[in-house]
Amino acid sequence: MLSYQHAYHAGGPADLHKHIALAELLALLTRKPRGISYMETHAGRGLYDLAAPETAKTGEAEAGIARIPPPDGPFGEALANVRALHGETAYPGSPALAASLLREVDRLHLMELHPAEFAALKTNLEGEAAIHHRDGYEGVLAISPPKPRKGLVLVDPSYEVKSEYIQAADFTRKLVAKWPEATVMIWYPVLKAARHTDMLAALKLPYIKDEVAFDLNDGKGMLGSGLVLVNAPYGAENIFGRTRKLGAPVLR
Ligand SMILES: C[S@@+](CC[C@H](N)C(=O)[O-])C[C@H]1O[C@@H](n2cnc3c(N)ncnc32)[C@H](O)[C@@H]1O
Repeated sequence: MLSYQHAYHAGGPADLHKHIALAELLALLTRKPRGISYMETHAGRGLYDLAAPETAKTGEAEAGIARIPPPDGPFGEALANVRALHGETAYPGSPALAASLLREVDRLHLMELHPAEFAALKTNLEGEAAIHHRDGYEGVLAISPPKPRKGLVLVDPSYEVKSEYIQAADFTRKLVAKWPEATVMIWYPVLKAARHTDMLAALKLPYIKDEVAFDLNDGKGMLGSGLVLVNAPYGAENIFGRTRKLGAPVLR
């Protein structure tokens, strides 16, 4: 099913949580000169305009990025770079964020299945990444283990159907079997039904996780955002504390 469009949620509290953590994690993984491989199973269009009608319609960006002071650290740097290039209402999706923080020695692979999102991603990230129009799970497994072997995979599905929780866990186990050095970060929504608990149980791998709470719709819908990290690199525990601090007026 491909009806989800991330433009409605760009810059919202869940994006802030995920993107601050991603930027901090990429900074941690690129501290040494050797290159890394960074991949995304679900890339979206890569770059958003917060002035677009879709974004204005939900008000999520108003409740997220618009409510925090200009952030510092790698997320703040990438946001400033993207805005310098694309204007003050631009907001980087995970691909533009990663492209802004990665170096010449690093490799960036992005998977996106939706034809229109894929076309937009190609335009937005032209020349900065290998962009694949294919199923993200199949695609990332097919090119793993990559060179360089050190690296990070972001798994960020839309969870339109229940089975996606278990699918994300199954994929992670298969990936780590093929590419044992991979760090994997999975984003999940915290909902009343708490379906993410099935995913965490199905992982059957050691992990660290971070959950933040927010209120977008008077307790209806998403209650918070979660991140799980498998093969967490040394120092990653501190990132989750920093994530909350940087998004302080929004992330609890
Ligand atoms: C939550 S959005 C990604 C947002 C993006 N990671 C970011 O933070 O900017 C999920 C995306 O996955 C795409 N998608 C859905 N199923 C997919 C699949 N099986 N393989 C690759 N992409 C898929 C959707 O079209 C959508 O653009």
